[in-house]
Amino acid sequence: MEYAENILGTIGNTPLVKINKLTEGIDALVLAKYETFNPGNSVKDRMAVKMIEDAEAAGLLKPGGTIIEGTSGNTGMGLALAAIVKGYRMVCVMADKQSKEKIDILRAVGSEVVVCPTNVAPDDPQSYYSTSKRLSEETPNSWYVNQYDNLSNTKAHYESTGPEIWKQTDGKVTHFVVGVGTGGTISGVGKYLKEQNPNVKVWGVDTYGSVFKKYHETGEFDEKEIYPYVTEGIGEDILPKNVDFDIIDGFTKVTDKDAAVYTQRLAKEEGFFLGNSAGAAMKGLLQLKEHFKKDDVVVILFHDHGSRYVGKMFNDEWMREKGYIE
Ligand SMILES: Cc1ncc(COP(=O)(O)O)c(C=O)c1O
Repeated sequence: MEYAENILGTIGNTPLVKINKLTEGIDALVLAKYETFNPGNSVKDRMAVKMIEDAEAAGLLKPGGTIIEGTSGNTGMGLALAAIVKGYRMVCVMADKQSKEKIDILRAVGSEVVVCPTNVAPDDPQSYYSTSKRLSEETPNSWYVNQYDNLSNTKAHYESTGPEIWKQTDGKVTHFVVGVGTGGTISGVGKYLKEQNPNVKVWGVDTYGSVFKKYHETGEFDEKEIYPYVTEGIGEDILPKNVDFDIIDGFTKVTDKDAAVYTQRLAKEEGFFLGNSAGAAMKGLLQLKEHFKKDDVVVILFHDHGSRYVGKMFNDEWMREKGYIE
């Protein structure tokens, strides 16, 4: 018999899928690391379990404890699945710009959800960063995950996602392209791939309203770069410890409109029903196309599933209201 001991045993070993139509004009082979095959429908299952296991080993998370995290949904989902299997209480703190589906989904898997305003500074007491910290201080036997600065996040991708991509491409991967939020995915995968072959190029996809691209290029944390944006999952107004800027060769920025339009195009032209950061990553890859040569193997990682965006990027009325489609 072949079966997993519990749902956490099904995390990882996701497929690589060739992108055929949206890559027209690119001679390189472009492969999608298709992370929605994870049980929580996102790449974040990997790091959620790793962060919990490392916290248990370090004695930070104890039996019967409460896990508290500020999350845009996907990390919360991974944490919630692990909390169910391992017997912890789960509290997710979210910003109110996140889709309603994400909040409902977290509640469906037993998480308590606290919603905070999006348009406040990170150090504002109402922000979701501050609220998560405060709740963890007030709740006995609790552990604040902090996916931004918790380096088990990067480690998960160094230990699983990176080696999978190397093995699946038979060591032929030449470029890795991925959206950057906490930085765990790009830093962990990028570090592993560059250790195998220092010539592998690692590109981050950023959004307008975020500080990453300018900081990488100039070393300046420019507060003028920060403003509210629609794209979900990527970009930050802080510098998380998980973003290893030395591993990253460059960033490209994608507009909210392009990210939304390409989220739809991936579904309609490739049959890839994916989240908003996948659209951003796809458009970012096309913006970088002059870097890819004929025999190159470009891997792009798609983080999460389209079902979380049916009220937004997959709703034409919403798309029209935003001015993203005619
Ligand atoms: C949908 C989505 N895309 C992209 C990212 C960015 O990944 P990472 O945090 O590993 O940089 C996240 C992380 O929050 C996400 O939820």
